Amino acid sequence: MERVTWFFLAYLVRQLAALTMAAQTNLNITTDRSALLALKSHITNDPQNMIFTNWSTTTPVCNWVGVTCGARHRRVAELNLSYFGLTGTIPPELGNLSFLVDLRFRNNSFRGTLPQELARLRRLKFINLAYNKFTGVIPSWFGSLSKLQIFSFYGNQFSGSIPTTIFNLSALQIIDLGYNQLSGTN
Ligand SMILES: *[C@@H]1O[C@H](CO)[C@@H](O)[C@H](O)[C@H]1NC(C)=O
Ligand SMILES: *[C@@H]1O[C@H](CO)[C@@H](O)[C@H](O)[C@H]1NC(C)=O
Ligand SMILES: *[C@@H]1O[C@H](CO)[C@@H](O)[C@H](O)[C@H]1NC(C)=O
Ligand SMILES: *[C@@H]1O[C@H](CO)[C@@H](O)[C@H](O)[C@H]1NC(C)=O
Ligand SMILES: *[C@@H]1O[C@H](CO)[C@@H](O)[C@H](O)[C@H]1NC(C)=O
Ligand SMILES: *[C@@H]1O[C@H](CO)[C@@H](O)[C@H](O)[C@H]1NC(C)=O
Repeated sequence: MERVTWFFLAYLVRQLAALTMAAQTNLNITTDRSALLALKSHITNDPQNMIFTNWSTTTPVCNWVGVTCGARHRRVAELNLSYFGLTGTIPPELGNLSFLVDLRFRNNSFRGTLPQELARLRRLKFINLAYNKFTGVIPSWFGSLSKLQIFSFYGNQFSGSIPTTIFNLSALQIIDLGYNQLSGTN
């Protein structure tokens, strides 16, 4: 009996240590806010004034237009800026939205390449970047986003070949890469 108690105590101590570590390395809603403010600062044109005034530091991030927070963790779970007409680039900070499940930037004028940091979006299931001006290759790290179900990069300027890593994505249902400048077998 005593032995069992000791084992249990040792187990608790280990769990607590793990939790403390996690708390130190984990990101929180404040990090989500800085990530979105970084995105805002990378937007050079907002013709319909969708986010320039709405994404105000005086209102909670979960109330910002296009932002939906999860009920359980109160972290940013969806970011939908589709049809806002924005011009800009994606900053590496976006990879800090560690609870993001759904990312939709459809019909904007985002350009540039996709930062490597997006590989950290482990919970991502849906990504729609259709009708933008993204360039560069479709990064091979897409193959490590294991929960990805649907992704559309339709109507961009991605070039190069389709990374074979994406064939490893077992949850993938729909992939739409039409109207890019991709080469190789497709
Ligand atoms: C978020 O984490 C930082 C440290 O990484 C901490 O200073 C801050 O108080 C935390 N904010 C919230 C809302 O938990
Ligand atoms: C931002 O937009 C949301 C959703 O349209 C709205 O509920 C909120 O009141 C707006 N906030 C500000 C500060 O304009
Ligand atoms: C994303 O936003 C657009 C424009 O506001 C809206 O039409 C669309 O239904 C939204 N999609 C989702 C999944 O919320
Ligand atoms: C968020 O991301 C940026 C760039 O990837 C990084 O410099 C920063 O330290 C990250 N963490 C926090 C807590 O903002
Ligand atoms: C989306 O973008 C495409 C290509 O620029 C354009 O043809 C289409 O009309 C746009 N759709 C909407 C609803 O803005
Ligand atoms: C695909 O997954 C298998 C098993 O998890 C791994 O061995 C392989 O390296 C992966 N291939 C690619 C191209 O990522």
